[in-house]
Amino acid sequence: MADFETVARVDEIPDGGMKQVVYKGELVGLYRVGDDIYALGDLCTHEEAYLTEGDFDPDDLEVECPLHGSRFNVVDGSVRILPATKPEPTYSVKVEGDLVLVGPRRQP
Ligand code: FES
Repeated sequence: MADFETVARVDEIPDGGMKQVVYKGELVGLYRVGDDIYALGDLCTHEEAYLTEGDFDPDDLEVECPLHGSRFNVVDGSVRILPATKPEPTYSVKVEGDLVLVGPRRQP
């Protein structure tokens, strides 16, 4: 619990939308699908671009990088479409009332 930080309110993230937040100095994207919220490293692993400035597809649970179109799964960070080859880190997420808390990375 100690490593979790409140980063946003649930109602700041539209259903099917995303929001960039900061967790311990790292830029993290929050993705909301109904009551579920996923947290993904926001800097593309390919070059310099923020995934939260791209397009989120809540049906496929994928975000598309605005720069070269790589797609990442927001649940496990895996690459779905090149040119990126390295997965994004994912973070633990908790919802307490109307607050969203982010915790440690779940993978490197
Ligand atoms: S910077 Fe994201 S795909 Fe190139």
